[in-house]
Amino acid sequence: MGFTNEKVTDYISSHYTPLDEQLGSFREYNEENNVPLILRETESFLSLLLELTHPRRILEIGTAYGYSALFFARKVPDAVVTTIDRNPHMIPVASSYFEDWEEGSRIDFRTGDAEQVLDEMISERKSSSQNMLPFDFIFIDAGKSHYRDFFDRAEQLAAPGALIVCDNILMHGWTVDRSYEGARRHRTNVKYMRQFIEYISRREDLTVSLLSSGDGLAVIRLHE
Ligand SMILES: C[S@@+](CC[C@H](N)C(=O)[O-])C[C@H]1O[C@@H](n2cnc3c(N)ncnc32)[C@H](O)[C@@H]1O
Repeated sequence: MGFTNEKVTDYISSHYTPLDEQLGSFREYNEENNVPLILRETESFLSLLLELTHPRRILEIGTAYGYSALFFARKVPDAVVTTIDRNPHMIPVASSYFEDWEEGSRIDFRTGDAEQVLDEMISERKSSSQNMLPFDFIFIDAGKSHYRDFFDRAEQLAAPGALIVCDNILMHGWTVDRSYEGARRHRTNVKYMRQFIEYISRREDLTVSLLSSGDGLAVIRLHE
């Protein structure tokens, strides 16, 4: 059982329009082949946020086949997107899409464990020889028990006033209520996700909005 009414989800999804035909086909291919990707309603919401904030530098943690990275790059034609993944099955596929699609030239694909890659990026930024600009939009969509680790690092790479969006914070409802099927099996992930939500909610220097859209989103704005 999901945490939202299936009819509601279907109704919302039925009003989804892909950004263009190529992205629409790519989405369908991912969905048919069970490749993880942002849900339709999540994409619609991100699309709105991107229009409102018009970021120049986007960081994504969790690439999979590259759908959302390509969506970000196409949605904001003058943005540069850095995306990170460690999965050896995903990396060659995403790389080949980034090579084939025109927007791929604006995607900086970094491979390896995100915590390590982010630490390297933090060092790069600190090193005087590198002139790396901070990110103004960050999307966290990777290992659910590591959101705090990703967030702490992402924050160090973020510009003042940046938006950090975390996907899947409700984890099919498990975060909210142990009675959801599967919640017990994912006890550790649930524990860490709850701790992460407590942490961001307590921070007075952040504006946080928790949404039940899709699989749950945390939209966090760093104060300037
Ligand atoms: C939900 S998928 C990302 C989907 C993608 N954002 C999209 O919408 O097209 C999550 C991805 O995060 C990657 N991942 C999970 N934990 C990671 C980690 N610690 N470091 C790097 N990548 C990680 C997985 O390999 C997987 O490809």
